[in-house]
Amino acid sequence: MNLKDKNALITGGNRGIGRAISCALALKGAHVAVHYHKEKKKVDRTLQKIEGRGGKAVKVQANVENYSEVQEMMKEVNKNLGSLDVLVNNAGISGPHNTLEDIGIEEWKEVIGVNLTGVFNCCKAAASDLVKNKGKVINISSIAGKMGGTIGCHYAASKAGVIGFTFALARELAPHITVNAVAPGPVDTELISEERKKILSQKTPFGRIAEPEEIAHTVVYLLENDYVSGEVIDVNAGRYMD
Ligand SMILES: NC(=O)c1ccc[n+]([C@@H]2O[C@H](COP(=O)([O-])OP(=O)(O)OC[C@H]3O[C@@H](n4cnc5c(N)ncnc54)[C@H](OP(=O)(O)O)[C@@H]3O)[C@@H](O)[C@H]2O)c1
Repeated sequence: MNLKDKNALITGGNRGIGRAISCALALKGAHVAVHYHKEKKKVDRTLQKIEGRGGKAVKVQANVENYSEVQEMMKEVNKNLGSLDVLVNNAGISGPHNTLEDIGIEEWKEVIGVNLTGVFNCCKAAASDLVKNKGKVINISSIAGKMGGTIGCHYAASKAGVIGFTFALARELAPHITVNAVAPGPVDTELISEERKKILSQKTPFGRIAEPEEIAHTVVYLLENDYVSGEVIDVNAGRYMD
């Protein structure tokens, strides 16, 4: 796909990995709907960055856990940009606890709700446009979805769920659209504490965690390629060699 003048929605596009993806797609000439949940200042900053470089961007808001909010968001995207060609499901949370003993049912439901049900909600609401436009879906999973990790069983389960969902949707919607996932190792964003970043850097063969732009680069690759579907691309600087 040539991204020029394509309409793309990036959930959680206001900051972190999502901001890097929003900026990378805008640089390729896509018209970007930058989604946020609560951090309005950050979405405004991302829009300024894109518009400052001559790109086109609008902001949209929703709690991705809530299907009617997601439907309203899609209507906004349609009104302000037009029919969707690209959906990047990036919004995600970790949760305050990381052991089975400490994770309560409400925390479990919230992490699964945002990270997994949120992906389902956005795909369901966007599917007819994406199919009509021969569009593309990218889901941001995590190394935790393949190896468990240390954030917690709720987070790992949600990210493993995203991988299964990606495989099933890629098959169901072929040959109309491609559906892929990216599974980053640790990335330098607000999701991880500064202390954890230091520990995780030491565990990485490259001696550092990833920059958000390195994940965005992989998303661009998957969007520009028309024959890769049902794939999960690891971006972790060789963590599996440990
Ligand atoms: N950082 C890492 O090390 C790492 C590694 C592997 C995978 N990932 C995955 O990459 C994605 C982006 O992570 P990040 O590190 O960039 O995280 P981040 O900086 O913490 O950003 C999280 C994003 O999710 C949005 N969000 C949170 N709750 C939401 C809700 N209920 N509804 C809609 N949006 C919601 C936030 O919106 P507001 O700003 O408006 O609150 C924000 O845009 C996540 O799916 C994460 O699991 C991250």
